[in-house]
Amino acid sequence: MSDPRDLLDRVWSHLTRGVADRRHPARHPVLATMGPDGPEARILVLRAASRAEGVLELHTDALSPKVAQMAAEPRVALHVWVPKDRLQIRMRARAEVGPGDPALFASLPEAARANYGGAAPGSAPDDGGAGGDPARFALIRCTLLEIDALELSDPHRRALFAAPDWQGRWIAP
Ligand SMILES: Cc1cc2nc3c(=O)[nH]c(=O)nc-3n(C[C@H](O)[C@H](O)[C@H](O)COP(=O)(O)O)c2cc1C
Repeated sequence: MSDPRDLLDRVWSHLTRGVADRRHPARHPVLATMGPDGPEARILVLRAASRAEGVLELHTDALSPKVAQMAAEPRVALHVWVPKDRLQIRMRARAEVGPGDPALFASLPEAARANYGGAAPGSAPDDGGAGGDPARFALIRCTLLEIDALELSDPHRRALFAAPDWQGRWIAP
């Protein structure tokens, strides 16, 4: 069998493209956290991907429920499906939430800044009058622990890669 590292190269190529290309499917990973009533999954926009650090970054509202969930249980999962390549990317990570870059926040379009204000996500809606609050702009930094790549080729191929050396091994699909 070929070197599973080739598959890891493709995974990172997709993740990197997801950051740069709004239309690439890796732009919208699903982030799964453990909530008080069980697992919760939702889409976020992928903002940065560093293979060297093994890190993915996302932005969110500091008052959104997922932030409290990750403080209580930092182990999260991320999921990407790339239809054109018939490639499923499943990732396990440790999430840390901190303040977002204020300069970046200031550079966002007004409509995007407005998402970081008003009623907390999931609570009763308010009149929508409050403008963007930089204190609500949060960075989710996901340090990857494991990447599981499943390619629906003929035959199907699946490989598992683990930090810190990311040596991969083929596993049964
Ligand atoms: C295409 C798409 C992109 C989204 N991007 C983000 C994002 O970058 N950050 C974010 O916090 N929520 C984003 N959301 C909203 C989340 O999916 C979710 O509804 C919201 O963050 C509240 O999640 P929570 O209640 O689990 O904290 C996006 C939703 C969609 C459908």
